[in-house]
Amino acid sequence: MKTVLITGAAGFVGSNLSLALLEEGYRVVGVDNFDDTYDPRFKEENIAQCLSNPNFELVRLNICNRAALQELFERVQPQLVAHLAAKADTRAAVEDPYPYVENNILGTLNIFETVRHTPLENMVFVSSSSVYGNDTKVPWKEDAAANHPISPYGATKRAAELFAYSYHHNFGMSITCLRYFNAYGEYNRPNMVPYLWARALLRGEEVELSGAGTRKRDYTYVGDTVRATIAALKKPLGYEIINIGNNHPLSLLELLGVFEKVLGVTARVKERPSHPASVEETYADISKAQKLLGWKPEVPIEEGIKRLVTWVRANRL
Ligand SMILES: NC(=O)c1ccc[n+]([C@@H]2O[C@H](COP(=O)([O-])OP(=O)(O)OC[C@H]3O[C@@H](n4cnc5c(N)ncnc54)[C@H](O)[C@@H]3O)[C@@H](O)[C@H]2O)c1
Repeated sequence: MKTVLITGAAGFVGSNLSLALLEEGYRVVGVDNFDDTYDPRFKEENIAQCLSNPNFELVRLNICNRAALQELFERVQPQLVAHLAAKADTRAAVEDPYPYVENNILGTLNIFETVRHTPLENMVFVSSSSVYGNDTKVPWKEDAAANHPISPYGATKRAAELFAYSYHHNFGMSITCLRYFNAYGEYNRPNMVPYLWARALLRGEEVELSGAGTRKRDYTYVGDTVRATIAALKKPLGYEIINIGNNHPLSLLELLGVFEKVLGVTARVKERPSHPASVEETYADISKAQKLLGWKPEVPIEEGIKRLVTWVRANRL
């Protein structure tokens, strides 16, 4: 039985990934510090299902604590690492970038330093579509320069990708950087549009629409994101950067249309200005993921939104 160490295991994608790996028969060690980027009680709920599985261990630890990380790796001897722990609020990072540098860059550096002293088969570092900024031609391909992320959050992810390359080069570590695009679904982060809209519409409240609703996002069902992550964990590639998106961007207004259809309601809309650190469009070219991982998304947006709504209705109303 192989051991996978997942950082950020109590978060949105991390908890989905932990469950999926347990179902596949892995031993999973989940690391999380339950930070307060959003209400930590949600994270306790996210991870509750894993706790009943004897092959799961939860370790409450901050990846900024390098000595504790090293001790943990020596004890559990993982074969695989999925590094998802990060602060991931684009707007908050604009106001106060320091915790983003500390957790996303220095914390990630601690992971690389620890992994360097561990006989590991493979590791996945989770990056973000936010590295592309606003001036890359869509659909975004991995070989674009990505030198102009427009939020400090995106800059921390790009910096960590560059560190990953240097660790691959100097120590032969196999690290695949996955650039996630707008995941949504069960255990959704509570500050993301699909979650906020599901909740507001189910409660008969107004939804907030930023700008004129024209900004586009490549919404990707979290189950598809998790499948890609597992495929990447299983396949050491040396050093690669791979987009994990839906390849089918929707404008906010189109997304609202999907919600209205799924719920059979007409939304009441309250407009608010767009944030300057919010890009116009995210759009993944996923041919590299198809080629290297044999992966493509399977869950269409209507089906994914139905699953999100069902989960929100049962858990977050
Ligand atoms: N959800 C998306 O659409 C999306 C898109 C692009 C990239 N990502 C990336 O995917 C990863 C997971 O995102 P998510 O949406 O699940 O976010 P999330 O905030 O739900 O999960 C991140 C988890 O990391 C933990 N964490 C943060 N700092 C830590 C530290 N110093 N030590 C230990 N744990 C720490 C948090 O407590 C949280 O549980 C992140 O790296 C994020 O940047 C997500």
